[in-house]
Amino acid sequence: MLQHRECGSGRAIVFVHGFPFHAEQWSAVTSELSSLGRCLTPDLRGFGRSTFDAATTPDVYTMEQHADDLSAWLDAHGLREPVVLVGFSMGGYVAWPFFRKHRNRLRALVLCDTRAIADTPEGAAGRAGLAARVLAEGRAPLIDGMLPKLLAPDTFTSRPEVVTAVRALMEAAPPRAIAAALRGMAQRPDSTPLLSRIDVPTLVVCGEHDAISSPSEMRGISALIPSARFVQIERAGHMTTHENPAALCKALREFVSSLA
Ligand code: MLT
Repeated sequence: MLQHRECGSGRAIVFVHGFPFHAEQWSAVTSELSSLGRCLTPDLRGFGRSTFDAATTPDVYTMEQHADDLSAWLDAHGLREPVVLVGFSMGGYVAWPFFRKHRNRLRALVLCDTRAIADTPEGAAGRAGLAARVLAEGRAPLIDGMLPKLLAPDTFTSRPEVVTAVRALMEAAPPRAIAAALRGMAQRPDSTPLLSRIDVPTLVVCGEHDAISSPSEMRGISALIPSARFVQIERAGHMTTHENPAALCKALREFVSSLA
């Protein structure tokens, strides 16, 4: 069963972390938004406190498996009312199958710094190679390759505390979970055909310097979702949760407040 943290009360807002992070990724956001609703931050399978027995841990965590885990976790906590699901990057990859399989559990969607398209064959092969290296060598190859893409150039030069915080999140990820999630992301299908069928209120958010899921790509996602709105977060790369949580909170507050 997934472990989670929570604060606040009222409407359930579920914050799904990215790769290779855990619930802590959302702490600056949820502490600010506890007056807006019941902010729930699960640790996805294998990450944070959601440790799974090594003997029964599969080699691949598919995005669909994560979506089903979330649905089972909502059941286990008696959360039957539709929730606002906020997915960051890999959390957004999980939001697509969650919408497909558990649409009745959704009041609204927020897609932060994420992508709808599948990996290219080269990208998927790169993830498979990285998974093998992380299992053999530890997290270093992942952190060395990924950290430079996560933050805006200005964050590296002027905000060392943000770099330290993001690195610490990555250093907490177990190598087995890293490998399983890399393989699962590599297998995810193209969700672009789903976008025009999304019929819940949707907010699409992207850091202005996001080098992983670019603002132009995310504007394209927003344009394909009926009645989605797009908000660009200034002074942020991919890690909007860390580089400009105030602007992210403002966008989330306005969106959630606008829901009936
Ligand atoms: C994330 O932040 O979850 C990752 O950048 C997703 C990915 O590696 O595609």
